Amino acid sequence: MSAEAILVGCRKLPEGDGDERAVLPALADLGVRARWAVWDDPEVDFASGLAILRATWDYTDRLGEFLDWCAAVPRLCNPAGVVRWNTDKSYLADLAGAGVAIVPTELIPPGGTPRWPDAEFVLKPSIGVGSIGAARFAADETEAAAEHLAGLHGTGHTALLQPYQAHVDAEGETALVFFGGVYSHAFTKGAMLTGSDLDGSGLYRSERLGVAEPEPSFRRLAEDVLDAACGLRGLRRADLLYARVDLVRTAGGAPALLELELTEPSLGFSYADPAAPLRFASAVRQLL
Ligand SMILES: Nc1ncnc2c1ncn2[C@@H]1O[C@H](COP(=O)(O)OP(=O)(O)O)[C@@H](O)[C@H]1O
Ligand SMILES: [Mg+2]
Repeated sequence: MSAEAILVGCRKLPEGDGDERAVLPALADLGVRARWAVWDDPEVDFASGLAILRATWDYTDRLGEFLDWCAAVPRLCNPAGVVRWNTDKSYLADLAGAGVAIVPTELIPPGGTPRWPDAEFVLKPSIGVGSIGAARFAADETEAAAEHLAGLHGTGHTALLQPYQAHVDAEGETALVFFGGVYSHAFTKGAMLTGSDLDGSGLYRSERLGVAEPEPSFRRLAEDVLDAACGLRGLRRADLLYARVDLVRTAGGAPALLELELTEPSLGFSYADPAAPLRFASAVRQLL
């Protein structure tokens, strides 16, 4: 096999956040040459292989430049069209339209003013990663919320308004990870809107992760989410090297989609069984 796999990071995290530690050896075990590169490093020739977005978490302020770069890479995982769709959380409305149970979401474009909910709620940017710009408000904190909304709109972006999902405080969210469209493993992420600190890179808030064994209703919804996304984008599931479906439990107990990460999700290898990196490597090999 001659083509190589290029894991793509950013200047502040040129080799990711460490979660992929076991991935390079797994790729080597399967005979796939692999290395890390920084997406906006002009010295790198991304045409030499399969470019795999892994930690490009600095694109939020330069999305246009990033998406242009994605479109110019000959072989990108996931495909540039998917990345374009998935980097704006407005995709949640598309998925809801396709029948997926999402966390109720109101999109508020610049200039728009919401009718504030009468229970705790969240405001966050439609283009954002690492919980940056997400904030939680009590029903009587509308003044602070309006200020936060103005800040989000000030950057030219649409905001998302969602009811705060209280189950997140007790059980966090569950991230279900798929490789090549096939379920691999899951992990939990503790509640983030509790004053969590920024990581040293400043690119994301520090996370508390753990091992998860999702119940059938969560497994089923995650499968439905992938099918719906592929239907909307005209893809087969195997076209997606990786996918992470973040689900939360709603007040009634049923799961709902918080986020579908097809761009550069942390894949939680540190919280998966030891064979997970090999499953990822096998999916890479299939695409090579
Ligand atoms: N509606 C919500 N209810 C409860 N917690 C939320 C809600 N929206 C976001 N959060 C918290 O904020 C974090 C970041 O929000 P998310 O939508 O996952 O954006 P991103 O991870 O892309 O920054 C989540 O991991 C979760 O802990
Ligand atoms: Mg998230």
